[in-house]
Amino acid sequence: MEKLSSKEIRNRFLKFFENNQHKIVTSSPLVLENHPSLLFVNSGMVQFTPYFLGEKDAVKDFGNKMLVDTQKCIRTNDLDIVGKSKYHHTFFEMLGSWGIGAYSKEKAVELAFNLLTNEEYGFGLDPGKFIPTVFAGSDEAPADEDTIKAWNNLGVKRVSRLPASENWWAPGGLTGVGPCGPCTEVLYDRGPTFGDEEETPGLTDNPRYLEIWNAGVFMQYNRPTVGGKLEKLKMLSVDTGAGLERITTLLQGVDSNYETDLFSPIIEKILSLSDLELNKEDENIKFGLQRSADHLKASCFIIVENVYPSNKDQGFVLRRMLRRVVDDFTWKLKINPIRITQIIPVIVDLYKIQFPEIDQQDLIKEVIETELRAYEKVVNNTRNYIKRTYVSKSREIENPFDVYQSTGSSKELIEDLAKEFNLKTDFSNFDARLKKHQELSKGSDQRFKGGLANTGVEETKLHTTTHLLHKALRDTLGEHVQQMGSNINPQRLRFDFSHNEKMTRDQIKKVEGIINEKIKQTLPVVRVEMSKSEAEKSGALHFFKDKYGDTVSIYFIGKDINSAYSKEFCGGPHVKNTSEIGKVRLVKEEGVGKGVRRIRAELN
Ligand code: SER
Repeated sequence: MEKLSSKEIRNRFLKFFENNQHKIVTSSPLVLENHPSLLFVNSGMVQFTPYFLGEKDAVKDFGNKMLVDTQKCIRTNDLDIVGKSKYHHTFFEMLGSWGIGAYSKEKAVELAFNLLTNEEYGFGLDPGKFIPTVFAGSDEAPADEDTIKAWNNLGVKRVSRLPASENWWAPGGLTGVGPCGPCTEVLYDRGPTFGDEEETPGLTDNPRYLEIWNAGVFMQYNRPTVGGKLEKLKMLSVDTGAGLERITTLLQGVDSNYETDLFSPIIEKILSLSDLELNKEDENIKFGLQRSADHLKASCFIIVENVYPSNKDQGFVLRRMLRRVVDDFTWKLKINPIRITQIIPVIVDLYKIQFPEIDQQDLIKEVIETELRAYEKVVNNTRNYIKRTYVSKSREIENPFDVYQSTGSSKELIEDLAKEFNLKTDFSNFDARLKKHQELSKGSDQRFKGGLANTGVEETKLHTTTHLLHKALRDTLGEHVQQMGSNINPQRLRFDFSHNEKMTRDQIKKVEGIINEKIKQTLPVVRVEMSKSEAEKSGALHFFKDKYGDTVSIYFIGKDINSAYSKEFCGGPHVKNTSEIGKVRLVKEEGVGKGVRRIRAELN
């Protein structure tokens, strides 16, 4: 079969399902306003969650219960390997199809098999090379025998049974809240040249076996709370997802996603901007080319959703990526970063057929140029600081963390500048100091977006109230309650937490009563520092999404840490005694997304 272009592969996927009675729908945006706990959409099924749960009706909203699309996705958990790994990206497209209470597992497997193998309208792959993986069963759910049979009936015999860690899919990981179930993934055996010469028993980490399609997540269950018990759903839904980049790699017979036509035009354009003859095979240059191509692509898609570089949330991811591109251009590729914007038309051309919203070149250019200017200042400051402090006085930057703190630059930039000045650097305690620094400022940086650096008295009282509220909610509703977000201004606090139902009037009164009772007890509020493991042992609440350093700051509310009513990892500040708070009123309780409730509270 002739090589298919990525456009043709995308089209064949969409058309195949359309010809099988699925309706083509559009990708959701990357940033969803009603989904505060998700920075970016990271898989195709996100927009369909309420339909799997039976909370919304797909026929009413989409005109069909069988759907297909290609979803724009961004994943930030792989940020450190992007550019080095062949198959991980920040931005990627997930080709997906859905049968919402519409058909069986057998039918799903048959559809997947036909699309993968048919030469005329599908991908013409040899089924002899397929190794589907299937859920082997766990304490919670039985092995997926139906799916094994379905593959066998189609003549595919090399089915591999794998545990939940590999073949159980849930949003946000194994025990994540939401619709979930066993899944079947298709691995494609590319032969020994892609892996170890010897047969390696492990399937999932062996590059020889390329995972090309999560050909069916069978949404049979819902997990209503983090780590809670599974509940059977009334209907079976099928959710499939295939990374377009990866399947293109296989079908174009190349070794890495960066060699496909989804990346090569961008990489070629970057190469053409260099005044030198860059050697694409040099590891450092290759890394710079690949990471820049990836990050620029992702940045364009983020910018057209009106996100601008900043120091928080999506804006921070964008800033970090753009600054890395500048670093890569400057140090690895030796191209003047001013030329970065010349890549924009290539990215727009590549994607505008499928995602017309990307065609906003002026906006993208302006945002990137503004960030280039802002970063130039940081680079100059850092360069001057290093010059002043170290060059001619020492052959070494003894304490790079001081440079970081004084200039707001990054470890990578300091490393690059050290090379420019031919200075040695000792980064041995950089990470430890950075962690501690982040830990101590965590309260203001992350959990309280307004920043508590210039905290007023009222805000401090509300901050302590937030801790009391968190604990009172857990006491009243259960231990599944977790903080999902928090925001304070001088008038009120807003607190988002995981819980599935509207709170009753009695529950609200009870929570309010507990808080006011604790205030009346005039409890001290005390900050202590301790090792992270000790802090965890003490039962202090922390946030699973956050990373902490080895030493953490804890606030407890009570006479001593053992008998304290509330204990939380936190950077402060807080009142010294609960009696300072006065009286608290809960003024509103509402839902703000699947499984997330929001409370507003004020001081009397
Ligand atoms: N939700 C599944 C995944 O992300 C299939 O679409 O892999």
